[in-house]
Amino acid sequence: MNNRTFAMIKPDAVRNGHMGKILDRIIEADFKILGAKLIRMTKAQAEGFYAIHRERPFFQELTTFMSSGKTMVLALEKDDAVSAWRDTIGATNPSEAADGTIRKDFATSLGENAVHGADSDENSVIEIGFFFTNNELISNQ
Ligand code: CMP
Repeated sequence: MNNRTFAMIKPDAVRNGHMGKILDRIIEADFKILGAKLIRMTKAQAEGFYAIHRERPFFQELTTFMSSGKTMVLALEKDDAVSAWRDTIGATNPSEAADGTIRKDFATSLGENAVHGADSDENSVIEIGFFFTNNELISNQ
């Protein structure tokens, strides 16, 4: 079990003024923020990050959206972080997300679903490494 996960507050949520409210949810759910950056992803970065989906019909839509505005990328720490964060954000499709989850409250559609969470311990390591170097992660809070 890993105690770290990778999260993003996506361009729709930043544009809609939800970044602060989502950060509050992260803190209220007892995650430690090891690293956080506000970035504007390039199309090439988005294509690299989501390379696993490159054969999917929504790949262009996804990478155009993810490079359309500011994203906050975060490295989070908590016991069983991957599954704890996935519980906090809710189902990928906001119409299926449980009450009280971030996607239920802030996402607008499957494509513009407010937040991202790594889906496994293995991917959390890869995804944190995509945006952070080891010495950018502050673990002695
Ligand atoms: P995320 O958790 O960031 O991982 C991949 C993303 O692809 C997912 O959230 C959705 O936002 C997006 N996605 C998945 N399925 C579709 C779809 N059918 N159409 C558009 N976007 C999708």
